[in-house]
Amino acid sequence: MKIATIAQDPQCLHDIQKYLANVNMSLPMVAITGGAQQIPAVIEQEHPDLLLLEGIKLNPGEQQILRVVTSRFPDLGVIMVCPPQPQEFLLEAMRVGVREVVPTPINQHVLIDAVERFQQRMAIAKAPLHQGKILAFMPCKGGSGATFLASNIAYTLAALENKRVILFDFNLQFGDASLFVHDGASATSIADVTRQIQRLDGSFLSSSSIHVLPNFDVLPAPDEPEKAAEIKPEHIQALMKVARKHYDFIILDIGRAFDAISIQCLDQADLIFPVLQQTLPFIRDAKRVINTFNSLGYPEDKIRLIVNRFGKKDDITLADVTNTLKLEVFKAIPNDYSVVAESVNQGIAVTKLARRSAVAKSLQEMAHELTRGNEQSGLLKKLFSFNAIPLMS
Ligand SMILES: Nc1ncnc2c1ncn2[C@@H]1O[C@H](COP(=O)(O)OP(=O)(O)O)[C@@H](O)[C@H]1O
Ligand SMILES: [Mg+2]
Repeated sequence: MKIATIAQDPQCLHDIQKYLANVNMSLPMVAITGGAQQIPAVIEQEHPDLLLLEGIKLNPGEQQILRVVTSRFPDLGVIMVCPPQPQEFLLEAMRVGVREVVPTPINQHVLIDAVERFQQRMAIAKAPLHQGKILAFMPCKGGSGATFLASNIAYTLAALENKRVILFDFNLQFGDASLFVHDGASATSIADVTRQIQRLDGSFLSSSSIHVLPNFDVLPAPDEPEKAAEIKPEHIQALMKVARKHYDFIILDIGRAFDAISIQCLDQADLIFPVLQQTLPFIRDAKRVINTFNSLGYPEDKIRLIVNRFGKKDDITLADVTNTLKLEVFKAIPNDYSVVAESVNQGIAVTKLARRSAVAKSLQEMAHELTRGNEQSGLLKKLFSFNAIPLMS
C-alpha cells in the first residue's frame, strides 16, 4: 500500500510521517507540503492507495477537487486530518468521498487505526473470490461406474485431501449417488433447494444436504419424478455459483442423457470425466459422447477420459482406447468386484471400507492429482507412446 500525505502545516506533515514510519518502515510514502491544488498531480504521478490530507477546510473549490478525484479513482482512500468539526462538516466530507476524519492534535493510535482499517478493506477487496472446481462425471453407457467414481472421488477428496466437497446427484429420475457413500434416506433433495432458489446461499445449500463428513455434503436427486420436473436449467448456474464460493470441489454425477439440465451442468464444469469400460459397446458409445462434447464446443483439455474396471489382460488395451477415441486416458481404475460390491451394498466409500485395496488406492491417486492440478500421471503418458493399434476408424 502506498500512502501520500499532503499537509499545509510542515510540523503536522512531519508528525504524520513519523507515526506511519513507527508502525511500518517499509510502506512507500510520499509527503508534500501544500493544499488541495496539489491533489490531482500527486494522484496522477504517484498513484497512491491512500491519501492523507491536512489543512483542508472543504471550501467549494476544495470540494470540487475532491469530488472529481474520488469519482475518477474510486479505489482511492482519503483520510482528512483536521480540528474537531461539527456533524455537518463530517457529512460534507463523506459526500465528496472522504472515508475518515482524524482529529488534531493527532494521536498516533487514532491515525494508525484509521490507516489499518483502510488497509484491511483494501485486502478484502483485492482477495480473489473463492472459486471451487466443478468436476462432472458422465457414463458413456449405463453401468460404466460413473456414479461409483463420482461419489467415491468426492469422499476421498474430503477424507484424505481435506477439501470441502459437495456431491450433486443430477440423475434426476433415478438418482442413487448418495447411497454409495451413505446408508440412510434423505429428507431433502436438489428440488428442495431450487424450489427456494431466492433463498440460496452457502448455509442453505449445506443445511439441505446430507453431511457424510463434516467437510463432505451430498445433495441427492429427488425421490419422485414430479419433483425432478421442478428443477429448471436456469437454476443450475445459480446453484453452481454459490457452490463454487463455499466448497473446494463440486462433484456432479450426471446421467447419460444430454438434455437442457445436463448440458448446463457440463457447460459449468471445469473438467468432464466420461467413464467407459474396455469393451466395444462402451467404446462405441464413448465415441458418440465425445463427438457430442466436440459439437458443444468443449476444448479437449476439459475432457478427462476414465477407463473403469480396467484389467491389464483384457483384449482391448488402453492404447486401443486412445487410438480409437483420439483422447488420452486420464485414469484407469482397476476392476475389483468384491471390494466394490461390498462398498456399494453397505453404502460405505471404498476409501473408508478398504483403504488399501487396488481400487481405493487408484481413487486416492486420482484425488491427489486433482488437488495438485496435475495433468496426467507419467505412467499413463508412457503407455501411450508405443503399441498403438487402431480399433475403429
Ligand atoms: N472399479 C470397479 N470394479 C468393480 N465393480 C465396479 C467398479 N466400478 C463400478 N462397479 C460396479 O458397477 C456398478 C454400476 O456402477 P454405477 O456407478 O452405478 O454406473 P453408472 O453410474 O455409470 O451407471 C456398481 O454398482 C458397482 O457394483
Ligand atoms: Mg449412475
